[in-house]
Amino acid sequence: MVTRTVDLRSDTVTKPTEAMRAAMASAEVDDDVLKYDPTALRLETEMAKIMGKEAALFVPSGTMGNLISVLVHCEIRGSEVILGDNSHIHIYENGGIATIGGVHPRTVRNNGDGTMDLDLIEAAIRDPRGEIVFPTTRLICLENSHANCGGRCLSVEYTDRVGDLAKKHGLKLHIDGARIFNASVALGVPVDRLVQAADSVSVCLSKGLGAPVGSVIVGSRAFINKARRLRKTLGGGMRQVGILCAAALVAIQENIVKLEGDHENAKFLADGLNKIKGLQVESHLIETNIIFVDIKDSTITGEKLSKILEEHGILVLPESSSRIRIVLHHQISATDTQYTLSCFQQAMAGAITNENGV
Ligand SMILES: Cc1ncc(COP(=O)(O)O)c(C=O)c1O
Repeated sequence: MVTRTVDLRSDTVTKPTEAMRAAMASAEVDDDVLKYDPTALRLETEMAKIMGKEAALFVPSGTMGNLISVLVHCEIRGSEVILGDNSHIHIYENGGIATIGGVHPRTVRNNGDGTMDLDLIEAAIRDPRGEIVFPTTRLICLENSHANCGGRCLSVEYTDRVGDLAKKHGLKLHIDGARIFNASVALGVPVDRLVQAADSVSVCLSKGLGAPVGSVIVGSRAFINKARRLRKTLGGGMRQVGILCAAALVAIQENIVKLEGDHENAKFLADGLNKIKGLQVESHLIETNIIFVDIKDSTITGEKLSKILEEHGILVLPESSSRIRIVLHHQISATDTQYTLSCFQQAMAGAITNENGV
């Protein structure tokens, strides 16, 4: 019988804390589509200040935050966006920028650390002299931290250089900052400085920060005015949304300081997992809260290992037949990570033994 559950499937699985639930229950609310919800306005003001931008807008999800941002920057038909071939926007957002927005994606190879080479970005920018056949490049998108690259962080120097490149060519820069606070904490760089070069940032409240729902996009006042209109068009205008924003305000207050602990737990777990026979983790590359575990024993698949772990209450996500993903968050303690490690040890020992018929 499972006596304990350690949910490492994602940092989106956190449950609202008692403080969040209390704040939600007593939140002052009004109609946010009419811009009267005081708690939504408070969250937006606070987020704009933290991120060093003029204005902010609460949106239902990170996907909608990215979609709105890309569409505002690419409002003219025939626009093209340069983005990483391993980026969340390109891989996991249903191609919305193309199917809904009519924006053409031009991918550049993501390196293992989440960067794209600057010379490759520059080479991908369309020559305006070819406008009779080329779409017009209007935007570059970065992702920080980079989820599919194992939560690696883009440095402030790199981000500034991409910003300079964008400026040089008259382009805008958007950052998918679903986990920008993880990156800021890991790099030891204030978040407003980290995103200084960006024209817009989409920040998830419901990932590392641990709020139950929502994202915030930040940018100039003119950008946010257009974003607000587009949010309504997409059906993301909500009424007494202060109930959700109240939980997010608690998350900002209480959970940013916990991210460093999540990263320490991730490092501890990654180092331990890498020592288990049959598993490989590039633990020296762990910077934030995401771990990819490669299974080097051909007798066990990601699905099978996940099933065995589930019997011990450890929930992980199989990524492929030979890889599983683990994500740390504020509701996983140091003891949970130790327990997880011992379950992995038992699971691998048991699986290998069984397969050998011992
Ligand atoms: C890097 C990144 N960007 C955007 C998103 C989209 O967020 P949502 O699931 O809230 O739409 C995610 C979700 O996992 C993500 O990891």
